Amino acid sequence: MKDQILRILYRHQGRALSGEEISQQLGVSRTAVWKHIKVLREEGHIITSKPKVGYVLTSNYDNMFPAEIEAQMASSALGNKVIFEREVESTNDLAKLEAEKGAAHGTIVLANKQSKGRGRRGRHWASNNPQGIWFSLILRPKISPMMAPKLTFVAAVAIVEAVYKATGIQLDIKWPNDLYFEGKKVAGILTEMKAELDLVYYIIIGIGLNVNQKELDFDSEIRAIASSLAVTANKGFERQQILVQILQALEKWYSLFLEKGFKPILDKWRIADITIGKQVLVREVTKEYVGWVKDIDEDGSLLVENYQGELRKVMSGEVSIILSP
Ligand code: BTN
Repeated sequence: MKDQILRILYRHQGRALSGEEISQQLGVSRTAVWKHIKVLREEGHIITSKPKVGYVLTSNYDNMFPAEIEAQMASSALGNKVIFEREVESTNDLAKLEAEKGAAHGTIVLANKQSKGRGRRGRHWASNNPQGIWFSLILRPKISPMMAPKLTFVAAVAIVEAVYKATGIQLDIKWPNDLYFEGKKVAGILTEMKAELDLVYYIIIGIGLNVNQKELDFDSEIRAIASSLAVTANKGFERQQILVQILQALEKWYSLFLEKGFKPILDKWRIADITIGKQVLVREVTKEYVGWVKDIDEDGSLLVENYQGELRKVMSGEVSIILSP
């Protein structure tokens, strides 16, 4: 009921709606409407009320409606079950707990805010705000654990396609899974798994996409390197609509991966890639070196030529693009 009231107010954003109108639409008393509005305000929604005029939702806190997402994904294998929390420490952590409890393949864990959002290599992922899309997809694929990193490529390709469809913004991919616009990071993917040597129990694909942050919403330490779709397009977006596009694209590219293998994913990935041909600093577990990216191998690893002219195959690790002066 609370979410339905929020949805009605959201659709009327900027315009007033009387308690009487809301109560008629939902078939409940005006007192019930008032009680739900009180709870919504406690949750942080800015809803003003004027006597004889009604309620106005003035915040641009566009909410997620799990039932609507599930309905739009009903005929898909992915995203047809949504576990939604207003605030969690990390959706990847909650997704792991849910997977341990038996959550089905394709379930997503979605949150409005993360107090301990995690990035790759133990880094913090700034997401303690409802301006981005923070979610984790639980997969139970019948693939070898060696194939799991390829799912990160599947996710990157899906995000690029979905963001373009929903907003017209063309994101770039930096190997293996960072999504950039004009040199600033807009989205990241954190893939984690529970497996034995030859058996995958589950894989969690955590996706963070900066959507409605304005430049000053980013902490000063990351302002120079992070961006959002809103900064890029100079306007805000409805997060739920973008999320549904991402889930649809994940469904498409994941099915293609299972049916036809990695090649179609890599072909698509290459189109958005900004890594090939660049000078990079490679950080592997035990060493760091500078080299030039010659190509991406057919298994997704990076082929980097070092100063000695040797070609190295980088399977995991991190690369930073060195910008030429
Ligand atoms: C990276 O680029 O380092 C990966 C960032 C991944 C962030 C997402 S947000 C949803 C999910 N939950 C987390 O704690 N992290 C991932």
